[in-house]
Amino acid sequence: MPEPSLPAPVAALFPSAAERERLDGWLSGALLGALGRVRAGPVTPTLDMARFAEELAAMDFDAPRPLERLLEWTLERMEHGIVQMTNPRYFGLFNPGANFPSQCADRIASAFNPQLASSASSPVPVALESHLIRVVGRRAGFGAEATGHFATGGSEANYTALVCALTAAHPRFAQEGARAFPGPPAFYTSRECHIAWLKVAHQAGIGRGALRLIATDGTGRMDPQALAEAICADRAAGAVPIMLVATAGTTGAGMIDPLEACAEIARREALWYHVDAAWGGAAIASERLRGLLAGIERADSVTIDAHKWLATTMGCAMYVTVRGSILSQAFHASTSFMPSSFAGIDPYLNSVQWSRRFLGLRLFLSLGAAGWGGLGAHLERSVAVIAHVRERLTALGWTAANDSQLAVLDVLPPRPCDVRALVRRVVESGRAWVAPATFEGRDVVRICATHGETSQSDIEELLAALSAAAC
Ligand SMILES: Cc1ncc(COP(=O)(O)O)c(C=O)c1O
Repeated sequence: MPEPSLPAPVAALFPSAAERERLDGWLSGALLGALGRVRAGPVTPTLDMARFAEELAAMDFDAPRPLERLLEWTLERMEHGIVQMTNPRYFGLFNPGANFPSQCADRIASAFNPQLASSASSPVPVALESHLIRVVGRRAGFGAEATGHFATGGSEANYTALVCALTAAHPRFAQEGARAFPGPPAFYTSRECHIAWLKVAHQAGIGRGALRLIATDGTGRMDPQALAEAICADRAAGAVPIMLVATAGTTGAGMIDPLEACAEIARREALWYHVDAAWGGAAIASERLRGLLAGIERADSVTIDAHKWLATTMGCAMYVTVRGSILSQAFHASTSFMPSSFAGIDPYLNSVQWSRRFLGLRLFLSLGAAGWGGLGAHLERSVAVIAHVRERLTALGWTAANDSQLAVLDVLPPRPCDVRALVRRVVESGRAWVAPATFEGRDVVRICATHGETSQSDIEELLAALSAAAC
């Protein structure tokens, strides 16, 4: 029988081994060059976006282009077309200059492209991620029963928490949704929370109106008295309180809600207790800082994003819970086509996602290479950067508005002025990147240490940019 002749593989998609090696080498060198220039250049994008829109409009994808040219084109535009998180003068939102081990993890995950939905497809990655979640759970103070999974971001992990809370709150929620409750479900967090909670409420089908934004105490921390009163008022009005969310490291100011007091209220009121430690949860890595999270171990679940302060590539969030059976209840499904279906083990039966990338490898290689000590030192270094910025700005007449022991500083300029305009001037200068924020009702300049290699001269440049922009 003659061999059946198959069409050749599409070479543009699956080049020869030699061509891949050549392109890989070229790309590694080109990336190093681009990132070196980014480091020394402006933090803000400089690309003419009108011209870029024309370029895009002209691309009909009818004729293929050589990959090397496309890579050059892409690198060039990335070098000039984004806010540069790899620039050590980015003092911005919680987006890190990614650590190197996690970048290696991405290469490996991309090359093997394992499917982590099921333990039969990816026995090693699933076991590795599950071990890592237990290790992180132990480090946060949970018992051996802690379980969970990696998620694309803090928002997904927080959404998971709400679905678990609703599932635990009523045996018929799984079947009937919010209609199972005798009144409208409500949940509680502080007004300094990450406002994605509104989207989370919307997605979960209980409506944005279910979120109660509790007053803070004047220092950015949830006021337990106001919380208790809100729960009481809701019950009196026929609403059904289901979850309390404390934030450990608020987005705007790095403040930590009173975790013990919140745990006590959640216990008394029989609410699911979730700690949104998307950014601040990284503090478990540092012997010096982890005490700030005392009380987190009393939570039913926590969100910790490794892609924030632990500086892995995005997104590498974790949802950790001591109530694994609720997680399995909330996300179970049954099909004949999956290679395995073990409740409590297979990620597709215990999480929002089905197809799933090997996210946990990013944290595994970072933690493995640095150890808790190394990750802790990275955190402590950024706290030192912010302490130094604070000291210098205070000496220049600026006022600190928040009192975070983490790596976020909110400041007011020496003379009253439009803070948002001030921030715009800093950003437009390209010398440094800071954010505007509202803290306890006041507009502030938010400065956050997110880059692991920010140097003294980077701090000097930030200070100069702030001084030049102040009125
Ligand atoms: C406290 C907190 N929770 C949740 C989130 C959302 O996380 P993600 O952007 O990973 O979805 C953030 C993001 O900054 C955050 O600071």
